[in-house]
Amino acid sequence: YGTGQINEQGNLEIGGCDTVDLVKEFGTPLYVYDTALIKERARGFKQTFEKMGVKAQVAYASKAFSSVAIYQLMDDEGMSLDVVSSGELFTAIQAGFPAERIHLHGNNKSKEELSMALNYGIGCIVVDNFFEIELLKEVVNEVQMPVNILIRVTPGIEAHTHDYILTGQEDSKFGFDLNNGQADRALQLCLEQPLITVLGVHCHIGSQIFETTGFILAADKIVGKMADWKKSVGFTPTVLNLGGGFGIRYTEEDEPLEPYQYVEKIVHHVQDVAANNELDMPEIWIEPGRSLVGDAGTTLYQVGSTKDVPDTRTYLAVDGGMSDNIRPALYDAKYEAILANKATKENTKTYAIAGKCCESGDMLIWDLPLPEASPGDILAVFCTGAYGYSMASNYNRLTKPAVVFVENGEARLVVRRESLEDLVKNDLPYVKQSV
Ligand code: LLP
Repeated sequence: YGTGQINEQGNLEIGGCDTVDLVKEFGTPLYVYDTALIKERARGFKQTFEKMGVKAQVAYASKAFSSVAIYQLMDDEGMSLDVVSSGELFTAIQAGFPAERIHLHGNNKSKEELSMALNYGIGCIVVDNFFEIELLKEVVNEVQMPVNILIRVTPGIEAHTHDYILTGQEDSKFGFDLNNGQADRALQLCLEQPLITVLGVHCHIGSQIFETTGFILAADKIVGKMADWKKSVGFTPTVLNLGGGFGIRYTEEDEPLEPYQYVEKIVHHVQDVAANNELDMPEIWIEPGRSLVGDAGTTLYQVGSTKDVPDTRTYLAVDGGMSDNIRPALYDAKYEAILANKATKENTKTYAIAGKCCESGDMLIWDLPLPEASPGDILAVFCTGAYGYSMASNYNRLTKPAVVFVENGEARLVVRRESLEDLVKNDLPYVKQSV
């Protein structure tokens, strides 16, 4: 799972860096990213499109992990970028990411976010609802700047995934319904605006998906709609954005395809349906998040207290938890882990890995076979690269961990550990009211 290997000292090594040394240098909890793996994934997606001779854009869905350094890495790889808020957009611009390769998402973009995006010269806005069309009309007319858009639709597809992460089904807060005229009306409204250029259609059916069936059903519906529009409105969108959602292997129960296999299967299918509908092959855009950074990330913790519940289990507590990885508590997500400093030792016990937050639900892993553990050991939890740091909180006033990039034996700090001072920097004093 994830990444890394065991070195001569019997320690887990990631990107040629001994994790025990990383902990000495940067402390714990620590997010460690194997950047060679991220690049391999990014290139894998792009090369698959190239091999198939299909025009494409691969946008990194940066909600999975957003920071200046990851934006710079993705820029270096020639990726496009999906951002969903002024915060992600601002970070990307700070990182020097070219605005023309950024796509702005969101089901409740504010007028400020839209005008910020336009002023930066954003590549495209993924329009989600009728209110947004009105706001966008106002903004483009105020600033007198043209904008490219995609129309986000919900195709009415249920991908097999966790309920909270489902987005493609009809009863969803996202997008225009493809089946009840909403999407047609949205298209009409946008086509009427001289400053708005409709590039195409977007859908995102869910996350951590293991099969291509959902993508294929969605593509069928959308290409069918494109063919309708060609006849009824005389307009053919040139871009089909199928979102992200490609699953990764967290534990051995997970059986995802290789990232490029999703692309191959989906693109082949779109080529067929486009031809059957007498449409030119649209450009295919995708926006993977998890499958680019998920298994490249590992979290290192230091082991602290233990508690035996006789005949039941032994709790082993680490110095982080739901504040740096909310996924087990929120989605019942499963992870694999090892003791990084005892990587060659035999597993002799089963531990329940607890976080340090004041909640019984703050459990990272319920049944983890490990060697005999003692305080100071380093627990490495694999595949935490997506939605770990990006969903981290200061619950219990824990400071957010540091992030390092490792490659070729070199470790580079890319997000500093939050300090206690950072925690109070926006707090203002209580002033007693005089009566
Ligand atoms: N595009 C759109 C419009 C999305 O909403 C998402 C994810 C993605 C792309 C990227 O999906 P990915 O390739 O990463 O699956 N916090 C949850 C995942 C929420 C995903 C939200 N949208 C988790 O920790 O599993």
